[in-house]
Amino acid sequence: MDASVSGLTQRLAEADQSHLLQFWSELSPEEQANLTLDLQGMDFKEINGFFKNAMEVSSSSKHEKMDARMEPVPREVLGSVTRDRESLKEWEQTGLHHISQRKVAVLLLAGGQGTRLGVSYPKGMYDVGLPSHKTLFQIQAERIVKLQQLAEQKHKIKCCIPWYIMTSGRTMESTKDFFSRHDYFGLDKSNIIFFQQGMLPAMDYNGKIILESKGKLSMAPDGNGGLYRALGNQGIMDDMERRGIQFIHVYCVDNILVKVADPAFVGFCVQKGADCGAKVVEKTNPTEAVGVVCKVDGHYQVVEYSEITLATAEKRSSDGRLMFNAGNVANHFFSFSFLRDVVQKYEPRLQHHVAQKKIPFVDSQGHLIKPDKPNGIKMEKFVFDIFQFAKKFVVYEVLREDEFSPLKNADSQDGKDTPTTAKHALMSLHHRWVLNAGGHFIDENGRRVPAIPSLKDGTDLPIKCEVSPLVSYGGEGLEELVKGREFHPTLTIDEHGVHELVKNGV
Ligand code: UD1
Repeated sequence: MDASVSGLTQRLAEADQSHLLQFWSELSPEEQANLTLDLQGMDFKEINGFFKNAMEVSSSSKHEKMDARMEPVPREVLGSVTRDRESLKEWEQTGLHHISQRKVAVLLLAGGQGTRLGVSYPKGMYDVGLPSHKTLFQIQAERIVKLQQLAEQKHKIKCCIPWYIMTSGRTMESTKDFFSRHDYFGLDKSNIIFFQQGMLPAMDYNGKIILESKGKLSMAPDGNGGLYRALGNQGIMDDMERRGIQFIHVYCVDNILVKVADPAFVGFCVQKGADCGAKVVEKTNPTEAVGVVCKVDGHYQVVEYSEITLATAEKRSSDGRLMFNAGNVANHFFSFSFLRDVVQKYEPRLQHHVAQKKIPFVDSQGHLIKPDKPNGIKMEKFVFDIFQFAKKFVVYEVLREDEFSPLKNADSQDGKDTPTTAKHALMSLHHRWVLNAGGHFIDENGRRVPAIPSLKDGTDLPIKCEVSPLVSYGGEGLEELVKGREFHPTLTIDEHGVHELVKNGV
């Protein structure tokens, strides 16, 4: 064993992680070099500390106590696209103004592993099967392109919305490569900034780091709250400062309806003088897998679906609605100065959450075991855990059918949040845009299809309709294309015009 390894041996012994070298003599020189490199980059004291804290915080008695300390979001911090209709235009104008001044950036959290969807590539590269076959990344990119144009047209100055994309060790190369192959989807390459979040080892219940093979640790991204460390140590805050960014819209990759850099949301938060804001939809089903925005001990927080008890999730107010119904759609607003304070001061105070997992491991004989019940934990920080530090926090409620349809799971019969449900949600929204702009749909016999068509076999939408984000960001600008006209589905509207594709299925 060479000197660098013997130094490591001591560090490992001190941290009670010596088992990581138990197969050393069986490894090839290359495997030894890789393992050494991985281990040298790790701060075992810190990792052991994370484990200890995370296990303490996640103990169930503390959770039950937390339930008793939860309160719903108070009415005065809430803005709503339905209840505050008269203010909506003004919020949107404010947001567009700041976009035109180049003060708004978007930040995409795309470091997850997409385990539930079951694909080996980044989720943003997924094609849910729209008529255009656009991927989530392309849809989001084109919404940015369009919003830049809208701000430019209104304010007559050239503007750009920088797009910061957080990836992880597992998704960085393929994500960058995908963007480069697609010519950055019409965006300026210099305004797309990729950066990488950290990774943490999986640990067994005794705090021992798990080996996934004889020479390799089991590693996973450190949660979407890994954002804050990464922003600091990859120079991203400096980049934002150089560009004069003041407001940041942070969002998750999987929502096909996401309004990237939503001017109304940004404008609402800015007008309220907020340093931090969250977009929510009404949660109507107690067991829906969304976190709820609420207060705990007087501080704003999201209580995640994996951490709320059923009794609390089922509680109802006197009007019959769920008491904790501010469903987190993972769209957050931060002022630059708040984000900087988080990165510089508060990040170390964020606790890791614990996810119990079935983690493949090599046993002491060197056999690979795939456990059938959880055998260890992964530790993750959550992006919304900084709400507690906000001086002025606001919540913005939007309509689920307009803004929220996440892609989480692979297709299955009656599946939730699948490629099919995402595709349907987008086509249904665009169908409504066309109707609201004065267009009509007719069936193969030339009869008008009712506005609320019946689902023929329950497996597909009868109206297939897709509007390119390059044509419309949020339903605007369609009248001149569709008003008074009748269309056979499949209808697609893109930058080249209006197309009907009569017999083809989607
Ligand atoms: C997330 C929210 C949940 C919300 C739901 C809405 C968090 C912690 N939870 O849950 O409150 O109701 O979305 O759909 O935000 N990611 C990283 N790095 C990681 C892990 C994840 O960048 O280490 C990214 C993913 O790429 C994805 C996003 O974070 O864009 C959300 O991750 P996911 O694990 O799908 O969150 P959910 O459990 O669905």
